[in-house]
Amino acid sequence: MESSLLTRTMARVPGPVTVVTTVDGGGKPWGFTASSFSSVSLDPPLVLVCLDKGASTHSAFTTAEHFLVNVLAHEQDGVARRFATSGIDRFAAGDMETCELGLPGLPGTCVRVACAIHSVIDAGDHSILMGRVTETYVSDRIPLVYFNRSFSRPELPT
Ligand SMILES: Cc1cc2nc3c(=O)[nH]c(=O)nc-3n(C[C@H](O)[C@H](O)[C@H](O)COP(=O)(O)O)c2cc1C
Repeated sequence: MESSLLTRTMARVPGPVTVVTTVDGGGKPWGFTASSFSSVSLDPPLVLVCLDKGASTHSAFTTAEHFLVNVLAHEQDGVARRFATSGIDRFAAGDMETCELGLPGLPGTCVRVACAIHSVIDAGDHSILMGRVTETYVSDRIPLVYFNRSFSRPELPT
């Protein structure tokens, strides 16, 4: 399977848009945009997110004890772009607050899922961060969706 064909195929699969955050031992916040977020198990409560081994955040997340998944609301595409941009201070805007587990979170987010790291699984050019869910926050905000390499808002029945 050619990787460009797999990329083109998966671009047609809609996904959530999340910003995953953690804080390292020195108190420095880390975060990246991820659409690979998925639930895994109810008992125990497990979720996963996949992180590129080449990402600048890889070592912070694979050695972390906790992470927080912020599932973005439809008007938060600017935040998604910022947390996917290399070489900038992604936290400089100051729009994050201390949320579950003391980790950086977005107040206007749809959902937040706080996790203790359950395991880090080697998966090709990515690591799977498997998290055991400790706390959640749920709102009725409309989520942001990533489809065909674009951000969109789902059409919901009224
Ligand atoms: C919509 C969207 C979804 C993304 N999903 C993932 C993902 O699931 N896993 C991942 O490792 N990178 C994902 N990325 C890329 C990262 O956000 C980031 O750009 C990449 O890790 C490079 O960051 P670096 O400068 O920290 O190395 C996604 C980017 C976008 C725009």
